[in-house]
Amino acid sequence: MKELRGNVSVVTGGASGLGRAMALAFAREGMHVAIADVDAANLERVAAELRATGVKAFAARVDVSKAEQVDRFAQDVLGALGGVHVVCNNAGVAPIGAAWESTLADWEWTMGVNLWGVIHGVRAFTPMLLAQNEGHIVNTASVAGLINPPSSAVYNVTKHGVVALSETLHHDLDERNSKVGVSVLCPAYVPTGIADSARNRPVELSNPESGKSADQLAREEMLRKAVTSGKVSAEQVARAVVDAVKENRFYILTHPRINGAIRARMEAILAGRPPSHPMRDA
Ligand SMILES: NC(=O)c1ccc[n+]([C@@H]2O[C@H](COP(=O)([O-])OP(=O)(O)OC[C@H]3O[C@@H](n4cnc5c(N)ncnc54)[C@H](O)[C@@H]3O)[C@@H](O)[C@H]2O)c1
Repeated sequence: MKELRGNVSVVTGGASGLGRAMALAFAREGMHVAIADVDAANLERVAAELRATGVKAFAARVDVSKAEQVDRFAQDVLGALGGVHVVCNNAGVAPIGAAWESTLADWEWTMGVNLWGVIHGVRAFTPMLLAQNEGHIVNTASVAGLINPPSSAVYNVTKHGVVALSETLHHDLDERNSKVGVSVLCPAYVPTGIADSARNRPVELSNPESGKSADQLAREEMLRKAVTSGKVSAEQVARAVVDAVKENRFYILTHPRINGAIRARMEAILAGRPPSHPMRDA
């Protein structure tokens, strides 16, 4: 989509971090913006920031893991802003732990937000974009959708799912000669609230406080340090997203230093070697 001004963008997880930065970047392009999140207080704060740029903003409390809430949100956006053109399925959470340590609640929570959230967004919004034969879908995965960092099995599974869904969506639209574009966003560490994503975890999917091993707590601290010391800002990632939408670019890789790890994984697969370690072998 070359012309963004006056059109409408939708961003889930828009109350914080990358989602907030994307929403503001689209607003600065002159787009009206709808944001969805479970964090009602920050939703309103970001909606006010969006309106201050001179565009219309619509904010809705939506749990993206719930099909009916995403379906209703899609209809509400149409009602509030009169159309939809760019859809960013971005909400996400990131629990930490060895593959066998992750609880059923960890799996259900993370699959619900990171994977089902994107599935519901694709299901609810793609028919609208297809019908007008115009628009762009940006699904937030992660480099963890292209490589598999240790202690993140749950997260990695969801992000590989988002990459698979996005690539397939691209082929499905392309085979039908649709002008609707798709991108998949694959950043590495960016300073946001992601290391504290349990702040918005539903009570019914919570873990017992005593349930974490010393190793799990230490690795959570490592993630927090890696995220807070990330050198690429949310604003830089948002800029890359806007550019990819304008240029209709599929893969959005924002951290070139990680490319070696992606290449090492692919080469190990083709050479029949065991998986390369994404932090050590690149
Ligand atoms: N920050 C990073 O280092 C990094 C790297 C790669 C990918 N990502 C991905 O970027 C996306 C955005 O994360 P972020 O880094 O901005 O973190 P963040 O915690 O700052 O923002 C995530 C937002 O998602 C919202 N959210 C959580 N559960 C939700 C639900 N069920 N329904 C609706 N909204 C919900 C949160 O309330 C929060 O506002 C995620 O998909 C994350 O996996 C982040």
